[in-house]
Amino acid sequence: MEYKINTIEDLLLVILVILMIGVALMLIFVILQTNSTTKRLIAYKTGQTYEEFDFGKWWKKITGTTVSVKDEKEILLDHDYDGIKELDNHLPPWWLNLFYITIIFSVAYLLIFHVWKKAPLSGEEYEISMEKARKEVEAYQAQQGNAIDENSVSLTLEDTKALANGKSIFDANCAACHGANGEGTVGPNLTDEYWLHGGGINNVFKTIKYGVPEKGMISWQSTIKPKDMQDVANYILSLQGSKPANGKAPEGELFVVAADSTAQQ
Ligand code: HEC
Repeated sequence: MEYKINTIEDLLLVILVILMIGVALMLIFVILQTNSTTKRLIAYKTGQTYEEFDFGKWWKKITGTTVSVKDEKEILLDHDYDGIKELDNHLPPWWLNLFYITIIFSVAYLLIFHVWKKAPLSGEEYEISMEKARKEVEAYQAQQGNAIDENSVSLTLEDTKALANGKSIFDANCAACHGANGEGTVGPNLTDEYWLHGGGINNVFKTIKYGVPEKGMISWQSTIKPKDMQDVANYILSLQGSKPANGKAPEGELFVVAADSTAQQ
């Protein structure tokens, strides 16, 4: 469970809750006041004496018979351990009751968390939230992957995992027409700087996505996921200048990328 104030609505809700607590406190005060006034009236009518609320008495109840520091001499025991003396003071009830509450709490905690296992321990809580985060990241990445198009496609030549994925897709789907090393057979040589449909990551992605059906290059967008099309496009660009054996003669035009771009290496 997360408690975050993200929106104005959340903030208004918090303010509302605080206001409601304030109103509740006011109501309690009014009820107490009415109660004491009624008692006072009854006492007045019946001629009995009315006992005012006595703070001192109430205070005594919580602090108990604890002897205050200035009167400590009276409760000093006659034990004397090398000058260290012992006091025989009572524990104040507020403290004692808190202590009992902690004992009850610990039993309840033990039962709930360790015996009945009704709630996760902090370690498990950590695991659960990590798992949740992992799923969120996965969902985000999947969504990102599907969002890739010829404009947002990125050059990931340093990403060896992506290149390896691109190679396996190439081997399975493209090698038949472009050669095992991209040297070209039915399809053109993909390792030179000459392109029929433009070089660079955006153009290559576009050709893969839409294909050139009339020339025998399939449109892959319905069979290969956008992220995978990005990977295979990067794999193809990683073959630039590799000069495989039996390379098909260059086709198309020399594609020069802007000097500061690494699209073709
Ligand atoms: C059935 C054969 C065939 C398959 C399979 C095939 N291609 Fe092609 N590909 C071609 C042909 C033919 C062309 C040339 C189209 C033209 O002449 O316009 C081409 C062109 C291309 C081009 C453009 C080259 C340029 O010079 O602009 C790219 C990039 C490309 N293919 C990538 C791929 C990828 C990636 C795959 C696998 C996912 C693939 N191809 C699978 C036949 C194929």
